[in-house]
Amino acid sequence: MRKILITGGRVIDPATRTDDHVDVLLAEGRVAEWGKGIEAGGETLTVDVDGAIVAPGLVDMHVHLRDPGREDEETIESGTAAAAHGGVTAVAAMPNTEPAIDTPSWVEYVRSQETPIAVYPIAAITVGREGKTLTGMAELAEAGAVAFSDDGSPVVSPTVMRRALEYASMVGLPIISHCEDLDLKGSGVMNEGLASTLSGLRGIPAAAEEVAVARDIILARTTGAKLHIAHVSTEGSVELVRRAKEDGIAITCETAPHYFSLNDDDVRSYDTSLRVSPPIRSAADLAAIKVGLADGTIDAIASDHAPHSVEEKQVEFDAAPPGMIGVETLLPVTLTNLVQSGTVTLERAVELLSTDPASILNIPHGTLEAGSRADVTVFDPDWAWEVTADWFRSKSKNSPFIGRTLQGRVILTISEGKIVFEENATSDNDDGEAHAEGEHRPEELPVHV
Ligand code: DOR
Repeated sequence: MRKILITGGRVIDPATRTDDHVDVLLAEGRVAEWGKGIEAGGETLTVDVDGAIVAPGLVDMHVHLRDPGREDEETIESGTAAAAHGGVTAVAAMPNTEPAIDTPSWVEYVRSQETPIAVYPIAAITVGREGKTLTGMAELAEAGAVAFSDDGSPVVSPTVMRRALEYASMVGLPIISHCEDLDLKGSGVMNEGLASTLSGLRGIPAAAEEVAVARDIILARTTGAKLHIAHVSTEGSVELVRRAKEDGIAITCETAPHYFSLNDDDVRSYDTSLRVSPPIRSAADLAAIKVGLADGTIDAIASDHAPHSVEEKQVEFDAAPPGMIGVETLLPVTLTNLVQSGTVTLERAVELLSTDPASILNIPHGTLEAGSRADVTVFDPDWAWEVTADWFRSKSKNSPFIGRTLQGRVILTISEGKIVFEENATSDNDDGEAHAEGEHRPEELPVHV
């Protein structure tokens, strides 16, 4: 395997507290070394990224790859190609496929695919995600599951959730909880508030999420298990998690880019891409999510990449299934709405998108430290560009960001020492990889020398 020397970049690696203009040398799928003025040997591909940010590959701990079952919407192949396009070098795949990932052989199916980036299966908490019988967690862990979740649906029974936390704790893996009280949710389709009244759509109160978060925090406290709350969307949930952390409970949580970039007023457009579960909340919730991201209450940003077909989404708002794609816009939406606005530093953004999700899942990603897996994302944080439907590599196009201008874009993704996405095609590249033509690429990025 050819060595790669990345020069001219600003390296940000929160794990080693690095923010410096240094070169990074990759060899044999690992980070060999970094420092100033590294000399490349003869067989080395040198890439001058001319001032761009060089970060550890992003880790998206919450994606739906729809494989097996809905390969018309996404496959493991298309979803991981989309991830590479978004600068993501590791994804954790949710088990709400058809059938659900609830047996060791389905875990092995997900793990055995040839993919440009790393894929980690999350196994179901209950058989068929029906909320009744626990899966065989020890065997699933043995087969390679990194966490358990019935995401897409809550575990309704507190008794089942309590037992799940106990068993997951015995195998040392976290439970990722989809917190939603179905009784309070009722037939709601968007956030309950002025916007739902004005739009005539049925509302889902913030309490539908918060009651479930509170229940699971209590169960985590009594079991001592590792609890991770998926897609936190409300001010009250942020406060509950903050207090639980202060109380020393083993809790972590994530939010998704749509909860800090959009609010329920946007949903008055009736764009079905904006129907998600939990729903896009109020401006006050959005502000509280930003505070939680800045102060460390929220540990990770994950896309909740949820592909749906055009046929399913081209219906009335109430009839559309919840979910939007997001693995490709994860970084630009974060840069635009958190970094450009001054809410978090670039270093904190990288921590939220890479270092911390890797540590929650206990997977060997999220750092550029010498000896670690050579997963690198290079991006230009200043590049403003308009999102178009054909820019996406996902099989599905249900993104509300189409037509919007975002600031920041991935220009190079390297997974285990191989270039898996590159914005700029240049002649010097003889490694046989596919290279994309960027529609608006700046002249200078990246340059193979
Ligand atoms: O919006 C969502 N879509 N939220 C979920 O929890 C599930 C996901 C899906 O699978 O479509």
